[in-house]
Amino acid sequence: MGKQVIVKVPATTANLGPGFDVLGMALNLYNTVVLEEMDGDCQLIEVKGEGEALLPRDNSNLAARAASSLLFSAGYSNHGYKLYLENQIPLMSGLGSSAAAIIGGLVAANILAGSPFSDQDILKMAIEIEGHPDNVAAALLGGVVIVTNGEESYMYTRLIPKEGLRITAVVPDFNVSTADARSVLPKQVPLQDAVYNLGRIALLVTALREGDWELLRVALHDRLHQPYRCQLVPGLIDAFEAALESGAYGAFLSGAGPTVIALTPPDCEAGGIIADAFRSRNIAARVLHLEPCLTGTYISDAQY
Ligand code: HSE
Repeated sequence: MGKQVIVKVPATTANLGPGFDVLGMALNLYNTVVLEEMDGDCQLIEVKGEGEALLPRDNSNLAARAASSLLFSAGYSNHGYKLYLENQIPLMSGLGSSAAAIIGGLVAANILAGSPFSDQDILKMAIEIEGHPDNVAAALLGGVVIVTNGEESYMYTRLIPKEGLRITAVVPDFNVSTADARSVLPKQVPLQDAVYNLGRIALLVTALREGDWELLRVALHDRLHQPYRCQLVPGLIDAFEAALESGAYGAFLSGAGPTVIALTPPDCEAGGIIADAFRSRNIAARVLHLEPCLTGTYISDAQY
């Protein structure tokens, strides 16, 4: 058997309400990427779990594209490889499945090539492929990540959210492509909406850092993307209202959706009532109880 690398990449929720394209949080639901060197220059791709019936097995596969491009940049492209993906993250649901594929492919390939690239390099490559930074940064680094483009490169910082928050994700049974969800956004927004979000991002970062959960009752609101994306997620407003009725501090569209995430006190059962908001429109929905993943992407010693 050739050299084998196994990495685990967490799901991510981006935006967290007001932090459009700048805030992401890693969650404890993982895709496993196994990259194994093979003789010759062919690529074999296997997929199990989420996306098993849908994901391509040729070099249009996102994890394979990311791995191949890093191996090429590292001068390591005259080797073949086998890529085995075992996925827990639902596809096109707003939980960072494409970010996980990209980061998984890049990190595994970097290790296989002898780690020529830094985290900062990998993040830059990942953002180029993904097109926006919040999911890939959180998937790579873990915790809550604040990321923005500096003068010459992306700047990021991590924070570890205080304990005591319950994270409930409700995943309705339909997909929204990020491209579609970005195409409904306006090119310009009113100044008062930008100001509305700026204040809430500051409150949100403070709430997560200090554990001041009452701030979340205001801090999760958004005027920059959710109002425009409602049209793509039937039941979204009802789901937000259901979350508040159940005792949540608030709820938001996870990334580009359609998953809704509620942040609640530990004893609050928000999942069923939010799922009912979708079910009453004949949309099945599953409930996931998640926690922040603090490690980000890590090397696994499991055997495959
Ligand atoms: N910030 C991105 C967006 C996340 O909202 O379009 C997509 O997962």
